[in-house]
Amino acid sequence: MALCDDKIIDALMERNSIVENIMNYKNQHNMQILQPEQEEKQIRLFEEKLSGNKYKDEIFDVYHSILKNSKRIQARKLFTHNIVLIGFMGAGKSTVSELLSTMFAMDIVEMDQVIAEREAMSIPDIFDTYGEEYFRNLETNLLIEMQSHHNTIVSCGGGAALRAENVVEMKKNGRVVLLTASPQIILERVKDNEDRPILKGNKNVEFIENLMETRREKYEAAADIIINTDHKTVLEICQELIQKLSDASDELRYKRSEQR
Ligand code: S3P
Repeated sequence: MALCDDKIIDALMERNSIVENIMNYKNQHNMQILQPEQEEKQIRLFEEKLSGNKYKDEIFDVYHSILKNSKRIQARKLFTHNIVLIGFMGAGKSTVSELLSTMFAMDIVEMDQVIAEREAMSIPDIFDTYGEEYFRNLETNLLIEMQSHHNTIVSCGGGAALRAENVVEMKKNGRVVLLTASPQIILERVKDNEDRPILKGNKNVEFIENLMETRREKYEAAADIIINTDHKTVLEICQELIQKLSDASDELRYKRSEQR
């Protein structure tokens, strides 16, 4: 039995180092990092290999864990910090978070959702009952709490980056990614949603455009990288995010080495 376990450890060590090598290769050659179709193919092949096997379910269960851990290894290689997504309502923060989390088995903290769960109240009810300032304080506290998390995707509410102190907290353990979109596209994305008190009775391009303009400077100042999401698929956006974050950290490393 112990011999068998040794073989498993060796095989996993080998597999994990292959995962790291592929990751490095893709990065160095500017290749597409996210390949969901590749993952599907891998699972199909594995299933074929197991057809008729009497331990099919048990082996498949282990294989799923192996795949999940490979994703974590990739995430650790790619992202040294939490990924903090900011931007206007409807810019795509939640959608991007979900795909990133699926591809890299990273945890997501959807700030609005966590706040609503903890307060046992919807966001519009929190605004109505306690006011906006109270809600903003909850955001600040949650951002501070996130500093002890690693490799987590933090999807911020659209107003979170407007407070300077929040931005300071975000950056302590996060890379801040600003997602943008044109007012028309934002309207299209938010028009059927009633969870945003600020847009209540204001679902028109003029309001969105004006509010966006008043926030733009603060959003941009907070951002480490900026991605426009208009007419892009979520996969394209995530690919761009990975590339830009990697370029930004190379740049940072270069600057630091120059200062020495
Ligand atoms: C807000 C955006 C919302 C939510 C709240 C306030 C804002 O989050 O936090 O309604 O001020 O822009 P989403 O950006 O996730 O919609």
